[in-house]
Amino acid sequence: MTKAERSGALVLFGATGDLAHKKLYPALYHLTAEGRLKIPVIGVAAAVGWDDDKIRNYATEAIKAGVEDPDPAAIEQLTTNLCLVNGDYRDQATFQRLADALKNVRSERPLHYLAIPPSLFEAVVQGLAAAGLDKGARVVVEKPFGRDLASAQELNRVLHQVFREEAIFRIDHYLGKESVENLMVFRFANSLLEPVWNRRYIAGIQVTMAESFGVEGRGSFYDTVGAIRDVVQNHLLNVVAFLAMDPPSSAGAEALRDEKERVLKAMHPASPRYLVRGQYVGYLDEPGVAPGSTTETFAALRLDIESWRWAGVPFYVRAGKALATTSLEAIVEFQTPPRMLFSSTDHRPHPNLLVFRLGAHDGVTVSLQAKQPGEALVSYPVELDVDFEQVFGHRHEAYERLLADAIEGNAARFARQDAVETAWQIVQPLLDHPGPVYPYPRGSWGPPEADHVVAHHRRWHNPGPIDHDHDAIRHSHPASEALQ
Ligand code: BG6
Repeated sequence: MTKAERSGALVLFGATGDLAHKKLYPALYHLTAEGRLKIPVIGVAAAVGWDDDKIRNYATEAIKAGVEDPDPAAIEQLTTNLCLVNGDYRDQATFQRLADALKNVRSERPLHYLAIPPSLFEAVVQGLAAAGLDKGARVVVEKPFGRDLASAQELNRVLHQVFREEAIFRIDHYLGKESVENLMVFRFANSLLEPVWNRRYIAGIQVTMAESFGVEGRGSFYDTVGAIRDVVQNHLLNVVAFLAMDPPSSAGAEALRDEKERVLKAMHPASPRYLVRGQYVGYLDEPGVAPGSTTETFAALRLDIESWRWAGVPFYVRAGKALATTSLEAIVEFQTPPRMLFSSTDHRPHPNLLVFRLGAHDGVTVSLQAKQPGEALVSYPVELDVDFEQVFGHRHEAYERLLADAIEGNAARFARQDAVETAWQIVQPLLDHPGPVYPYPRGSWGPPEADHVVAHHRRWHNPGPIDHDHDAIRHSHPASEALQ
Protein backbone atom coordinates (compact mmCIF):
# COMPACT_ATOMS: atom_id res chain seq x y z
CA MET A 1 0.00 0.00 0.00
CA THR A 2 1.36 3.43 -0.78
CA LYS A 3 1.28 6.17 1.79
CA ALA A 4 -1.16 8.25 -0.22
CA GLU A 5 -4.02 5.76 -0.03
CA ARG A 6 -6.57 6.77 2.56
CA SER A 7 -8.37 4.13 4.56
CA GLY A 8 -11.97 3.74 3.47
CA ALA A 9 -13.44 2.83 6.86
CA LEU A 10 -12.47 2.81 10.50
CA VAL A 11 -13.11 -0.43 12.36
CA LEU A 12 -12.94 0.12 16.09
CA PHE A 13 -12.36 -3.03 18.14
CA GLY A 14 -13.17 -2.30 21.77
CA ALA A 15 -15.88 0.19 20.76
CA THR A 16 -17.62 -0.02 24.14
CA GLY A 17 -14.39 0.31 26.14
CA ASP A 18 -12.78 2.94 28.30
CA LEU A 19 -10.24 4.21 25.76
CA ALA A 20 -12.93 4.63 23.12
CA HIS A 21 -15.05 6.58 25.61
CA LYS A 22 -12.32 8.82 26.95
CA LYS A 23 -10.21 9.50 23.90
CA LEU A 24 -11.43 8.04 20.62
CA TYR A 25 -15.03 9.31 20.34
CA PRO A 26 -14.03 12.85 21.34
CA ALA A 27 -11.18 12.71 18.78
CA LEU A 28 -13.52 11.36 16.08
CA TYR A 29 -15.98 14.13 16.93
CA HIS A 30 -13.33 16.83 16.43
CA LEU A 31 -12.26 15.33 13.12
CA THR A 32 -15.91 15.23 11.98
CA ALA A 33 -16.59 18.80 13.11
CA GLU A 34 -13.55 19.97 11.14
CA GLY A 35 -14.75 18.10 8.05
CA ARG A 36 -11.75 15.75 8.18
CA LEU A 37 -13.61 12.50 8.87
CA LYS A 38 -16.06 11.34 6.28
CA ILE A 39 -15.48 7.59 6.35
CA PRO A 40 -17.83 5.14 8.08
CA VAL A 41 -16.93 3.94 11.56
CA ILE A 42 -17.78 0.36 12.47
CA GLY A 43 -17.50 -0.51 16.13
CA VAL A 44 -16.81 -4.09 17.16
CA ALA A 45 -17.42 -5.31 20.69
CA ALA A 46 -18.32 -8.44 22.59
CA ALA A 47 -21.01 -6.77 24.65
CA VAL A 48 -24.32 -8.47 25.38
CA GLY A 49 -27.36 -6.41 24.42
CA TRP A 50 -25.50 -3.72 22.46
CA ASP A 51 -26.72 -2.62 19.04
CA ASP A 52 -26.40 0.36 16.69
CA ASP A 53 -28.62 2.59 18.83
CA LYS A 54 -26.76 1.80 21.99
CA ILE A 55 -23.32 2.47 20.52
CA ARG A 56 -24.58 5.75 19.05
CA ASN A 57 -25.85 6.84 22.46
CA TYR A 58 -22.61 5.75 24.07
CA ALA A 59 -20.54 7.77 21.59
CA THR A 60 -22.80 10.81 22.08
CA GLU A 61 -22.42 10.58 25.82
CA ALA A 62 -18.62 10.20 25.48
CA ILE A 63 -18.45 13.28 23.27
CA LYS A 64 -20.58 15.34 25.68
CA ALA A 65 -18.32 14.25 28.55
CA GLY A 66 -15.06 14.94 26.73
CA VAL A 67 -15.79 17.99 24.58
CA GLU A 68 -16.82 21.41 25.77
CA ASP A 69 -19.97 22.62 24.05
CA PRO A 70 -20.04 20.14 21.13
CA ASP A 71 -21.94 20.93 17.96
CA PRO A 72 -25.07 18.69 17.80
CA ALA A 73 -24.92 18.60 13.99
CA ALA A 74 -21.40 17.15 14.06
CA ILE A 75 -22.45 14.57 16.67
CA GLU A 76 -25.36 13.61 14.45
CA GLN A 77 -23.10 13.32 11.41
CA LEU A 78 -20.63 11.10 13.27
CA THR A 79 -23.20 8.85 14.91
CA THR A 80 -25.20 8.27 11.70
CA ASN A 81 -21.93 7.04 10.24
CA LEU A 82 -21.41 4.70 13.19
CA CYS A 83 -22.70 1.15 13.58
CA LEU A 84 -21.88 -1.88 15.69
CA VAL A 85 -20.89 -5.46 15.00
CA ASN A 86 -21.45 -7.39 18.19
CA GLY A 87 -19.71 -10.71 18.76
CA ASP A 88 -16.95 -12.72 20.31
CA TYR A 89 -13.47 -11.98 18.95
CA ARG A 90 -12.75 -15.71 18.95
CA ASP A 91 -15.75 -16.55 16.79
CA GLN A 92 -15.17 -16.37 13.02
CA ALA A 93 -18.85 -15.47 12.50
CA THR A 94 -18.07 -12.06 14.07
CA PHE A 95 -15.57 -11.36 11.28
CA GLN A 96 -18.01 -12.50 8.62
CA ARG A 97 -20.54 -10.02 9.98
CA LEU A 98 -17.83 -7.36 9.95
CA ALA A 99 -17.07 -8.21 6.31
CA ASP A 100 -20.80 -7.82 5.51
CA ALA A 101 -20.94 -4.50 7.34
CA LEU A 102 -17.94 -3.23 5.35
CA LYS A 103 -19.64 -4.37 2.12
CA ASN A 104 -22.83 -2.54 3.14
CA VAL A 105 -20.97 0.73 3.45
CA ARG A 106 -19.01 -0.11 0.27
CA SER A 107 -15.70 0.47 1.95
CA GLU A 108 -12.31 -0.91 1.13
CA ARG A 109 -8.92 -0.65 2.78
CA PRO A 110 -10.20 -0.54 6.35
CA LEU A 111 -8.17 0.78 9.26
CA HIS A 112 -8.55 -1.69 12.14
CA TYR A 113 -8.03 -0.02 15.50
CA LEU A 114 -7.32 -2.55 18.25
CA ALA A 115 -8.40 -0.75 21.44
CA ILE A 116 -8.44 -4.12 23.20
CA PRO A 117 -6.14 -6.02 25.59
CA PRO A 118 -3.05 -7.45 23.83
CA SER A 119 -4.13 -10.96 24.86
CA LEU A 120 -6.86 -10.66 22.18
CA PHE A 121 -4.60 -9.40 19.38
CA GLU A 122 -3.82 -12.83 17.98
CA ALA A 123 -7.48 -13.90 17.79
CA VAL A 124 -8.46 -10.64 16.08
CA VAL A 125 -5.58 -10.59 13.64
CA GLN A 126 -6.22 -14.20 12.66
CA GLY A 127 -9.98 -13.57 12.39
CA LEU A 128 -9.38 -10.60 10.08
CA ALA A 129 -7.07 -12.62 7.86
CA ALA A 130 -9.48 -15.57 7.64
CA ALA A 131 -12.25 -13.19 6.53
CA GLY A 132 -9.95 -11.51 3.98
CA LEU A 133 -10.18 -8.23 5.89
CA ASP A 134 -6.42 -7.77 6.00
CA LYS A 135 -6.24 -6.92 2.29
CA GLY A 136 -5.06 -3.35 1.80
CA ALA A 137 -5.80 -2.80 5.49
CA ARG A 138 -3.85 -1.11 8.25
CA VAL A 139 -3.89 -1.96 11.91
CA VAL A 140 -3.47 0.38 14.87
CA VAL A 141 -2.34 -1.13 18.16
CA GLU A 142 -2.48 0.54 21.52
CA LYS A 143 0.13 0.46 24.24
CA PRO A 144 1.15 -1.36 26.38
CA PHE A 145 3.06 -3.02 23.58
CA GLY A 146 4.19 -6.02 25.59
CA ARG A 147 5.36 -6.09 29.19
CA ASP A 148 9.02 -6.85 28.47
CA LEU A 149 11.29 -7.49 25.52
CA ALA A 150 10.21 -11.11 25.02
CA SER A 151 6.47 -10.36 25.03
CA ALA A 152 6.94 -7.36 22.70
CA GLN A 153 8.79 -9.61 20.25
CA GLU A 154 5.98 -12.13 20.51
CA LEU A 155 3.36 -9.45 19.79
CA ASN A 156 5.33 -8.32 16.79
CA ARG A 157 5.48 -11.90 15.57
CA VAL A 158 1.70 -12.22 15.92
CA LEU A 159 1.06 -9.00 13.99
CA HIS A 160 3.59 -9.82 11.30
CA GLN A 161 1.87 -13.14 10.59
CA VAL A 162 -0.75 -11.06 8.83
CA PHE A 163 0.39 -7.45 8.42
CA ARG A 164 3.55 -6.00 6.94
CA GLU A 165 5.44 -3.54 9.14
CA GLU A 166 4.30 -0.61 6.92
CA ALA A 167 0.69 -1.47 7.76
CA ILE A 168 1.22 -1.58 11.55
CA PHE A 169 0.67 1.64 13.48
CA ARG A 170 1.77 1.36 17.15
CA ILE A 171 0.36 4.16 19.25
CA ASP A 172 2.31 6.06 21.83
CA HIS A 173 0.14 9.13 22.18
CA TYR A 174 3.16 11.22 23.28
CA LEU A 175 4.37 11.01 19.68
CA GLY A 176 1.15 12.78 18.72
CA LYS A 177 1.60 15.64 21.19
CA GLU A 178 2.45 18.96 19.54
CA SER A 179 4.63 19.87 22.50
CA VAL A 180 6.74 16.70 22.24
CA GLU A 181 7.13 17.00 18.50
CA ASN A 182 8.17 20.59 19.02
CA LEU A 183 11.29 19.40 20.85
CA MET A 184 12.67 18.21 17.56
CA VAL A 185 11.45 21.19 15.53
CA PHE A 186 12.71 23.70 18.10
CA ARG A 187 16.13 22.07 18.10
CA PHE A 188 16.62 21.71 14.39
CA ALA A 189 14.77 24.78 13.10
CA ASN A 190 16.93 27.13 15.22
CA SER A 191 20.58 27.25 14.26
CA LEU A 192 21.24 28.89 17.62
CA LEU A 193 20.86 25.63 19.50
CA GLU A 194 22.56 22.89 17.53
CA PRO A 195 26.17 24.10 18.08
CA VAL A 196 25.72 23.95 21.88
CA TRP A 197 23.56 20.84 22.00
CA ASN A 198 26.22 18.45 23.18
CA ARG A 199 28.43 17.36 26.06
CA ARG A 200 30.70 20.41 25.80
CA TYR A 201 27.90 22.79 26.74
CA ILE A 202 25.16 20.73 28.36
CA ALA A 203 25.73 19.52 31.91
CA GLY A 204 22.61 17.41 32.27
CA ILE A 205 18.97 17.00 31.21
CA GLN A 206 15.99 16.20 33.42
CA VAL A 207 12.56 15.04 32.38
CA THR A 208 9.74 14.98 34.93
CA MET A 209 6.27 13.61 34.30
CA ALA A 210 4.19 14.37 37.36
CA GLU A 211 0.52 13.50 37.87
CA SER A 212 -1.35 14.77 40.90
CA PHE A 213 -3.91 11.96 40.68
CA GLY A 214 -3.59 8.29 41.62
CA VAL A 215 -4.60 5.23 39.62
CA GLU A 216 -8.22 6.40 39.39
CA GLY A 217 -10.15 3.18 38.97
CA ARG A 218 -7.41 1.56 36.88
CA GLY A 219 -5.93 -0.28 39.89
CA SER A 220 -6.21 -3.81 38.52
CA PHE A 221 -4.53 -2.84 35.24
CA TYR A 222 -1.95 -0.53 36.75
CA ASP A 223 -0.91 -3.00 39.43
CA THR A 224 0.32 -5.43 36.78
CA VAL A 225 2.24 -2.68 35.02
CA GLY A 226 3.76 0.05 37.23
CA ALA A 227 5.33 3.36 36.24
CA ILE A 228 8.34 1.96 34.35
CA ARG A 229 6.21 -0.08 31.95
CA ASP A 230 3.32 2.40 31.86
CA VAL A 231 5.16 5.59 30.96
CA VAL A 232 8.97 5.31 31.11
CA GLN A 233 9.49 2.59 28.47
CA ASN A 234 7.36 4.49 25.98
CA HIS A 235 6.36 8.11 26.66
CA LEU A 236 9.49 9.25 28.48
CA LEU A 237 12.00 7.40 26.32
CA ASN A 238 10.38 9.10 23.34
CA VAL A 239 10.78 12.49 25.00
CA VAL A 240 14.46 11.71 25.68
CA ALA A 241 14.91 10.51 22.09
CA PHE A 242 13.55 13.80 20.72
CA LEU A 243 15.88 15.74 23.03
CA ALA A 244 18.93 13.69 22.14
CA MET A 245 18.58 12.52 18.53
CA ASP A 246 20.73 13.75 15.67
CA PRO A 247 19.09 15.76 12.88
CA PRO A 248 17.24 13.48 10.47
CA SER A 249 18.23 13.55 6.82
CA SER A 250 14.69 14.62 5.87
CA ALA A 251 11.31 15.19 7.52
CA GLY A 252 10.03 11.90 6.06
CA ALA A 253 8.63 9.22 8.36
CA GLU A 254 11.46 6.73 7.92
CA ALA A 255 14.24 9.31 8.27
CA LEU A 256 12.73 10.53 11.57
CA ARG A 257 12.22 7.03 12.85
CA ASP A 258 15.76 5.99 11.82
CA GLU A 259 17.32 8.78 13.89
CA LYS A 260 15.16 8.03 16.91
CA GLU A 261 16.12 4.39 16.71
CA ARG A 262 19.80 5.34 16.38
CA VAL A 263 19.83 7.38 19.57
CA LEU A 264 17.92 4.71 21.50
CA LYS A 265 20.45 2.16 20.28
CA ALA A 266 23.24 4.32 21.69
CA MET A 267 21.56 4.37 25.11
CA HIS A 268 23.00 2.07 27.75
CA PRO A 269 20.58 -0.43 29.24
CA ALA A 270 19.45 1.52 32.34
CA SER A 271 21.36 0.67 35.48
CA PRO A 272 19.35 -0.51 38.51
CA ARG A 273 22.00 1.32 40.58
CA TYR A 274 20.40 4.57 39.47
CA LEU A 275 16.80 3.52 39.97
CA VAL A 276 14.59 4.56 42.87
CA ARG A 277 11.02 3.27 42.91
CA GLY A 278 8.26 4.65 45.08
CA GLN A 279 4.66 3.89 45.93
CA TYR A 280 2.21 6.49 47.24
CA VAL A 281 0.72 5.91 50.64
CA GLY A 282 -2.85 4.67 50.12
CA TYR A 283 -2.09 2.86 46.85
CA LEU A 284 -2.60 -0.51 48.55
CA ASP A 285 -6.18 0.52 49.39
CA GLU A 286 -7.05 1.27 45.75
CA PRO A 287 -9.62 -1.14 44.27
CA GLY A 288 -7.97 -3.85 42.17
CA VAL A 289 -4.52 -3.51 43.77
CA ALA A 290 -3.11 -6.80 45.15
CA PRO A 291 -2.52 -6.97 48.91
CA GLY A 292 1.09 -6.14 49.72
CA SER A 293 1.76 -5.08 46.09
CA THR A 294 5.25 -3.73 45.40
CA THR A 295 4.28 -2.15 42.07
CA GLU A 296 5.85 1.29 41.70
CA THR A 297 3.73 4.38 41.18
CA PHE A 298 6.90 6.48 40.98
CA ALA A 299 10.26 5.87 39.34
CA ALA A 300 13.37 8.03 39.17
CA LEU A 301 16.29 6.87 37.06
CA ARG A 302 19.31 7.92 35.11
CA LEU A 303 19.99 7.20 31.46
CA ASP A 304 23.29 7.50 29.62
CA ILE A 305 23.87 7.79 25.92
CA GLU A 306 27.21 6.57 24.65
CA SER A 307 27.52 8.80 21.64
CA TRP A 308 30.04 11.39 20.48
CA ARG A 309 27.45 14.03 21.35
CA TRP A 310 26.32 12.82 24.76
CA ALA A 311 28.98 10.67 26.43
CA GLY A 312 29.02 11.53 30.14
CA VAL A 313 25.88 13.72 30.15
CA PRO A 314 23.30 12.34 32.60
CA PHE A 315 19.67 12.19 31.52
CA TYR A 316 17.55 12.06 34.66
CA VAL A 317 13.99 10.84 34.25
CA ARG A 318 11.22 10.88 36.85
CA ALA A 319 7.57 9.88 36.65
CA GLY A 320 4.99 9.45 39.31
CA LYS A 321 1.34 9.42 40.30
CA ALA A 322 -0.15 11.28 43.30
CA LEU A 323 2.62 13.88 43.14
CA ALA A 324 2.42 17.57 44.01
CA THR A 325 1.13 18.66 40.61
CA THR A 326 0.31 17.49 37.08
CA SER A 327 3.02 18.54 34.73
CA LEU A 328 5.47 17.35 32.11
CA GLU A 329 8.73 19.20 31.75
CA ALA A 330 12.16 18.74 30.26
CA ILE A 331 14.91 20.95 31.59
CA VAL A 332 18.28 21.35 29.93
CA GLU A 333 21.01 22.61 32.19
CA PHE A 334 24.00 24.20 30.50
CA GLN A 335 27.56 24.25 31.76
CA THR A 336 28.64 27.32 33.67
CA PRO A 337 31.13 29.63 31.92
CA PRO A 338 34.76 28.67 32.50
CA ARG A 339 35.25 31.64 34.86
CA MET A 340 32.56 33.12 37.07
CA LEU A 341 33.48 36.76 36.64
CA PHE A 342 30.26 38.33 37.86
CA SER A 343 29.71 36.62 41.16
CA SER A 344 29.98 38.02 44.65
CA THR A 345 30.58 36.38 48.00
CA ASP A 346 26.86 36.02 48.66
CA HIS A 347 25.78 35.36 45.10
CA ARG A 348 27.02 32.92 42.51
CA PRO A 349 25.48 32.98 39.04
CA HIS A 350 23.27 30.08 38.07
CA PRO A 351 23.77 28.03 34.96
CA ASN A 352 21.57 28.75 31.95
CA LEU A 353 18.48 26.60 31.80
CA LEU A 354 16.19 25.81 28.92
CA VAL A 355 12.84 24.52 30.12
CA PHE A 356 10.35 22.85 27.79
CA ARG A 357 6.84 22.70 29.25
CA LEU A 358 5.24 19.76 27.49
CA GLY A 359 1.97 19.18 29.34
CA ALA A 360 -0.65 21.84 29.96
CA HIS A 361 0.39 25.43 29.03
CA ASP A 362 3.20 24.16 26.89
CA GLY A 363 5.96 26.53 26.00
CA VAL A 364 9.60 27.31 26.52
CA THR A 365 11.47 29.28 29.17
CA VAL A 366 15.11 30.25 28.83
CA SER A 367 16.89 31.37 31.93
CA LEU A 368 19.84 33.66 31.25
CA GLN A 369 22.07 35.91 33.31
CA ALA A 370 21.84 39.70 33.10
CA LYS A 371 23.56 42.47 34.99
CA GLN A 372 21.93 43.20 38.29
CA PRO A 373 21.37 46.98 38.61
CA GLY A 374 23.80 48.68 40.95
CA GLU A 375 27.44 49.46 41.36
CA ALA A 376 28.71 45.92 41.49
CA LEU A 377 29.28 43.84 38.37
CA VAL A 378 27.09 40.96 39.42
CA SER A 379 24.70 38.94 37.28
CA TYR A 380 21.19 37.82 38.12
CA PRO A 381 18.89 35.30 36.39
CA VAL A 382 16.22 36.61 34.01
CA GLU A 383 13.73 34.58 32.02
CA LEU A 384 12.52 34.66 28.44
CA ASP A 385 9.25 32.88 28.25
CA VAL A 386 6.85 31.79 25.49
CA ASP A 387 3.44 30.23 26.01
CA PHE A 388 2.60 28.40 22.78
CA GLU A 389 -1.15 28.51 23.30
CA GLN A 390 -1.03 32.29 23.52
CA VAL A 391 1.00 32.43 20.32
CA PHE A 392 -0.63 29.69 18.28
CA GLY A 393 -4.08 29.34 19.86
CA HIS A 394 -5.82 25.99 20.16
CA ARG A 395 -3.83 22.94 19.08
CA HIS A 396 -5.15 19.53 18.24
CA GLU A 397 -5.19 16.74 20.80
CA ALA A 398 -2.78 13.85 20.30
CA TYR A 399 -5.47 11.25 19.52
CA GLU A 400 -7.05 13.47 16.92
CA ARG A 401 -3.75 13.87 15.10
CA LEU A 402 -2.89 10.18 15.38
CA LEU A 403 -6.26 8.98 14.10
CA ALA A 404 -6.08 11.36 11.15
CA ASP A 405 -2.51 10.21 10.39
CA ALA A 406 -3.39 6.53 10.55
CA ILE A 407 -6.34 7.06 8.20
CA GLU A 408 -4.00 8.88 5.80
CA GLY A 409 -1.34 6.18 6.18
CA ASN A 410 1.27 8.55 7.62
CA ALA A 411 3.42 6.51 10.00
CA ALA A 412 5.82 9.23 11.20
CA ARG A 413 4.10 9.61 14.58
CA PHE A 414 3.90 5.90 15.31
CA ALA A 415 6.45 3.63 16.92
CA ARG A 416 8.35 1.28 14.68
CA GLN A 417 9.05 -2.27 15.77
CA ASP A 418 12.81 -1.74 16.23
CA ALA A 419 12.30 1.31 18.47
CA VAL A 420 9.75 -0.49 20.66
CA GLU A 421 12.08 -3.44 21.13
CA THR A 422 15.12 -1.22 21.76
CA ALA A 423 13.14 0.70 24.38
CA TRP A 424 12.35 -2.56 26.15
CA GLN A 425 16.04 -3.48 26.05
CA ILE A 426 16.86 -0.18 27.77
CA VAL A 427 14.45 -0.70 30.69
CA GLN A 428 14.82 -4.48 30.94
CA PRO A 429 17.53 -4.38 33.70
CA LEU A 430 15.17 -2.24 35.79
CA LEU A 431 12.41 -4.82 35.40
CA ASP A 432 14.80 -7.66 36.23
CA HIS A 433 16.31 -5.93 39.29
CA PRO A 434 13.69 -3.48 40.52
CA GLY A 435 15.01 -3.17 44.10
CA PRO A 436 12.87 -1.92 46.98
CA VAL A 437 9.86 0.35 46.67
CA TYR A 438 9.82 3.37 49.01
CA PRO A 439 6.60 4.93 50.31
CA TYR A 440 5.85 8.60 49.70
CA PRO A 441 2.96 10.77 50.82
CA ARG A 442 0.34 11.86 48.29
CA GLY A 443 1.01 15.37 47.07
CA SER A 444 4.79 15.14 47.56
CA TRP A 445 7.63 14.87 45.02
CA GLY A 446 8.09 11.16 45.59
CA PRO A 447 10.31 9.41 48.11
CA PRO A 448 13.33 11.38 49.40
CA GLU A 449 15.51 8.45 48.30
CA ALA A 450 15.03 9.70 44.71
CA ASP A 451 17.48 12.52 45.47
CA HIS A 452 20.27 9.95 45.40
CA VAL A 453 19.65 9.33 41.71
CA VAL A 454 20.98 12.77 40.75
CA ALA A 455 24.70 13.47 41.21
CA HIS A 456 25.68 15.01 44.53
CA HIS A 457 25.98 18.59 43.24
CA ARG A 458 22.54 18.63 41.60
CA ARG A 459 18.89 18.57 42.60
CA TRP A 460 15.72 17.57 40.86
CA HIS A 461 14.04 20.50 39.23
CA ASN A 462 10.39 20.47 40.19
CA PRO A 463 8.03 21.64 37.45
CA GLY A 464 6.63 25.12 37.83
CA PRO A 465 8.31 28.49 37.99
CA ILE A 466 12.10 28.18 38.11
CA ASP A 467 13.26 28.36 41.70
CA HIS A 468 16.82 29.47 41.13
CA ASP A 469 18.03 28.91 44.65
CA HIS A 470 16.62 25.41 44.78
CA ASP A 471 17.55 24.45 41.27
CA ALA A 472 21.05 25.80 41.20
CA ILE A 473 23.64 23.13 40.84
CA ARG A 474 26.49 23.73 43.19
CA HIS A 475 28.77 24.76 40.41
CA SER A 476 32.01 25.36 42.15
CA HIS A 477 32.97 22.10 40.47
CA PRO A 478 35.07 22.20 37.33
CA ALA A 479 33.36 21.29 34.07
CA SER A 480 34.74 17.76 34.20
CA GLU A 481 33.04 17.08 37.51
CA ALA A 482 29.69 18.06 36.02
CA LEU A 483 29.97 15.10 33.74
CA GLN A 484 30.04 12.45 36.43
C1 BG6 B 1 -1.06 6.76 29.63
C2 BG6 B 1 -0.78 6.06 30.94
O1 BG6 B 1 -0.40 6.13 28.58
O2 BG6 B 1 -0.62 8.11 29.73
C3 BG6 B 1 -1.44 6.79 32.09
O3 BG6 B 1 -1.26 4.74 30.87
C4 BG6 B 1 -1.06 8.25 32.11
O4 BG6 B 1 -1.11 6.18 33.33
C5 BG6 B 1 -1.28 8.86 30.72
O5 BG6 B 1 -1.86 8.91 33.07
C6 BG6 B 1 -0.74 10.28 30.67
O6 BG6 B 1 -1.10 10.89 29.45
P1 BG6 B 1 -1.16 12.47 29.32
O7 BG6 B 1 -1.39 12.72 27.88
O8 BG6 B 1 -2.26 12.94 30.20
O9 BG6 B 1 0.18 12.98 29.81
